Amino acid sequence: MPGKRVSIIGAGNVGATAAYYIAEKVMADIVMVDVAEGVTRAKAIDFLHAGPMRGYDVSIEGTGDYAAIADSDLVVVTAGVARKPGMDRMDLLRVNAGIVKSASKMIARYAPNATVIVVSNPLDVMCHVVHRTTGFAVQRVIGMAGVLDSTRFRYFVAERLGCAFTDVHAMVLGGHGDQMVPMPRFTTVAGIPVSRFLDAEELERLVDRTRKGGAEIVAHLKTGSAYYAPAASVAEMAEAILTDRRTLAPCAVFLRGEYGIENLFIGVPVILGKNGVERIVELELEPHELERLRRSAEAVKKGVEELETFFTVR
Ligand code: LAC
Repeated sequence: MPGKRVSIIGAGNVGATAAYYIAEKVMADIVMVDVAEGVTRAKAIDFLHAGPMRGYDVSIEGTGDYAAIADSDLVVVTAGVARKPGMDRMDLLRVNAGIVKSASKMIARYAPNATVIVVSNPLDVMCHVVHRTTGFAVQRVIGMAGVLDSTRFRYFVAERLGCAFTDVHAMVLGGHGDQMVPMPRFTTVAGIPVSRFLDAEELERLVDRTRKGGAEIVAHLKTGSAYYAPAASVAEMAEAILTDRRTLAPCAVFLRGEYGIENLFIGVPVILGKNGVERIVELELEPHELERLRRSAEAVKKGVEELETFFTVR
């Protein structure tokens, strides 16, 4: 979208890869802000060198100065530390709450009209931090998790069936943690319910693998967590918002009674468009699905309660 401006806070693996995917996909101008200013500047220049071959024709700036994010249409928050083997995403809560809070203050100051995609973990709790600190309307604070968890589930199904990856569509609801809720009933292969191809037991195995998808990568990587699929997920959401595509995707959004959940950011299907969350889509869930979603919400709520014990906006 020529003329659109996307800022990415945190130019680590997720942030820098997201910048690249967004430049290729949407043609927005990009600003990357990171405390490691030199590295960020280097990445930006290197991106530009690849532009003539990769076909993007945008401006990309890498800086340590938040003033550069002024007038952003979209801000992506990836700042924070990633987990190491053996860690739960919730173990990052305290340190990342501080980092995400500082970033949020700067976003409120320099990009007050932006929509924010939150990526830092623990994802659902960090959405609360961004929302409270920026004071932005809830439609403009959107957590990236469901798109990532869904693409993992899609891949696992496609790999098992030996079919085209893109033929599989799927939906993962709930918080971005071990209690996430992959939804086999909302999973299809070119429109055909996946239950036509895989029995309940096999599906449950893929559900379990999806829940552990992030941890599987952390275990191999050792020094951090996944970034290609998370960055691609950010780019999908950015495209939907910047082009007003009205894409239906699971995202962490603030619920006010939908699905029986109150005052909590958690993953549910939404329509993404130019205003951020255009609509929350309420689906009728079966009792066992609703029970899983409630359990996942309980886990997120615990994280938010921990946040309450130390968090102040000032
Ligand atoms: C993952 C981390 C980024 O799921 O939360 O890979």
